[in-house]
Amino acid sequence: MYNDKKIAAIQARVNQEFLKLTPKSREQHEKSRGYWLRGVPMHWMVDWQCAYPLYIDRAQGVTMTDLDGNHYADFCLGDTGSMFGHSTPEIVEALTTQASRGITTMKPSRDAEAVGKLLTDIFGMAVWQVTATASDANRSIIRWCRAVTGRQKLLVFNQCYHGSVDETLVVHRPGGALGEADYDPILSMHGQEANGVALVEFNDLPSLRKILETGTVACILAEPIMTNVGMVLPDDGYWAEVRRLCTETGTLLIIDETHTISSGPGGHFRELGLKSDALVLGKPVAGGVPAGVYGVTAELAGRISDYFNRIGTTGRSGTSTTLSGSPFQLALMRKVLATSFTAATYAPMIAKAKGLEAGIKAIIAEFKAPWVVIRVGARVEFMCSPTPPHNGSEALKVIAQPIDTLIHAFLINHGVVITPFHNMMLISPVTTDTDVEKFLKAFRAVTKELME
Ligand SMILES: Cc1ncc(COP(=O)(O)O)c(C=O)c1O
Repeated sequence: MYNDKKIAAIQARVNQEFLKLTPKSREQHEKSRGYWLRGVPMHWMVDWQCAYPLYIDRAQGVTMTDLDGNHYADFCLGDTGSMFGHSTPEIVEALTTQASRGITTMKPSRDAEAVGKLLTDIFGMAVWQVTATASDANRSIIRWCRAVTGRQKLLVFNQCYHGSVDETLVVHRPGGALGEADYDPILSMHGQEANGVALVEFNDLPSLRKILETGTVACILAEPIMTNVGMVLPDDGYWAEVRRLCTETGTLLIIDETHTISSGPGGHFRELGLKSDALVLGKPVAGGVPAGVYGVTAELAGRISDYFNRIGTTGRSGTSTTLSGSPFQLALMRKVLATSFTAATYAPMIAKAKGLEAGIKAIIAEFKAPWVVIRVGARVEFMCSPTPPHNGSEALKVIAQPIDTLIHAFLINHGVVITPFHNMMLISPVTTDTDVEKFLKAFRAVTKELME
């Protein structure tokens, strides 16, 4: 069985192996780091658990190849952005065709009808808007919810993540009253009071009810299952009761399916037959090209139209980003929605994810490791804790520990990449049995070494 000393000793060896395997990534990092904040084009790229990031030469299907020519089976898949595979032939074809027809024009294009129809058919919402990314979609729909309800408060769950939306980057205020939150001083970089944000634990219905009954909350923004702090599942009947409370208190429910789109082509809520007032999606919707969408029910669309009519537009309704709704985004979405957001695409993904889950379960049992594996659709997460977490606070205590760092680094040295920050693996339609076996072989080796 492992202890801190054993983990540190294995980690030291794994670090040395990484240096030997990746000299070109190291060299490139030394050359380029001076030009970038925190040494990388996006600061979270150094949150990977190695001495320096892997520098990627190419990514195709589910194989990433680094500058040293090492091949990696990619289970991170751009943290869902490339869920259907990197640079698949369909995506390349749509990219190259549209590239010569115009990228951004501030006008709708020939694909508007087809994309609108696909979105409505697949997700069930009445009308849509296109944004730059999922963060941008969240910001936009929160704004509409505040406008139409005349309420300012937004409610999110502790340890949620919805992108770079400042109000959602909140943490509990120590000793604070129920539902009060502070901005996280590092993540949000404000250090100011989180006015207008209510924060409660996932699965805590009494606290939620108490806040909603004040009648001050414009909307709840939530993932159907929490996917950014390990994985936290809802209790049975939880969402039905949240839906009921929202309707009763005039609170709008926004469901962010950006990650849980791995549950089925229409997202997790649709799989369960649940109803929200608005739906947000980004990342894979245009095959990894920056694009997000939000859809609203006919009822909410009517309220937004009424709001527009009430305030009157002056020919300047612009509250979103310039590159949103571009012909380029629409062309990519048309291709990806038509070819990938289908039951036929998802069936093998989910079947393979079940195989991965069973394989991890067997290894955990073989070595009696005090860990759990959780799967929802094509998304699998192992957590180095004997029981699954029930809310964000519980999950935070078990993720990103030295043991997780070690497992990530060990897997990388064995040609396997999983999502950084926690232990998520996503299965794409082009993931093969060989990829899954590669993961299981490496995972078994590290589990054996830790547990013996
Ligand atoms: C649930 C969820 N919503 C929204 C976002 C933001 O997506 P983007 O960074 O593409 O704007 C993320 C990013 O990880 C996410 O996990």
